[in-house]
Amino acid sequence: MRIIRIEATDSTNNFLKQRVAAEKLEEGTVVQAFAQLVGRGQAGNHWESEPGKNLTCSILFYPQFLSVRSHFLLSKVIALGVKETLEEYIDDVFIKWPNDIYVQDKKITGILIENELTGPEINRSIVGIGVNLNQELFAGNAPHPVSLKQLTGKTIDQDTFLEEMLNRIFFWYEQLKEKEIQCISTAYDDALYHTPGYYRFKEINGEFTAEIQSVADDGILHLKTDTGEERRYFFKEVSFIMD
Ligand code: BTN
Repeated sequence: MRIIRIEATDSTNNFLKQRVAAEKLEEGTVVQAFAQLVGRGQAGNHWESEPGKNLTCSILFYPQFLSVRSHFLLSKVIALGVKETLEEYIDDVFIKWPNDIYVQDKKITGILIENELTGPEINRSIVGIGVNLNQELFAGNAPHPVSLKQLTGKTIDQDTFLEEMLNRIFFWYEQLKEKEIQCISTAYDDALYHTPGYYRFKEINGEFTAEIQSVADDGILHLKTDTGEERRYFFKEVSFIMD
């Protein structure tokens, strides 16, 4: 596995995308930036990260064995790897659908996966991961940010965290290659934030109470309402109501 460490970039996802367009890079190549100046989040949001404080990195995958229909399995294995790494430091780590990592009710990690498709197959994925390690003040308007240092009071060594995280991510990626789909999906569902039990959700037609049943391989969230109705949602069609 090759780690390309750089001083500064706009976004490690952009950097890796440009690099792989210019030269052939092996699967597992990682770009880690000391400072990420214009970090990108999901849905066009900005990802805040104070230079030198946090882990901002991107990993290159060629999951050509995955169909577009089951693209979300890659998200599941990445989220599981990050979650397990955080559990080395702290309890109460959950995956908030689709792939944020929360500790208690605060967001500690964001994941941005950008796929390049060839017909019905995924040719290449750039997996961007931002883990709040040592930042103690968040200036932007990100919802409920928190860092490991804020939670544990300890300064976290970035290289140790990265090494552990890559080991765990690649362990789960191997499971995916070996088609251990049930095992991956069960581990993912078991790690979900706000499960088991009934919680408040919001969608275009209003608020409702439901229990999460599962997340399918295409990323669709399966809910059962308190009136027994089964509902399915794509990313951004429904959100959790946070207290
Ligand atoms: C989110 O909105 O939750 C996703 C945030 C993803 C941030 C990471 S940091 C490294 C990589 N490079 C980026 O520009 N974004 C991702």
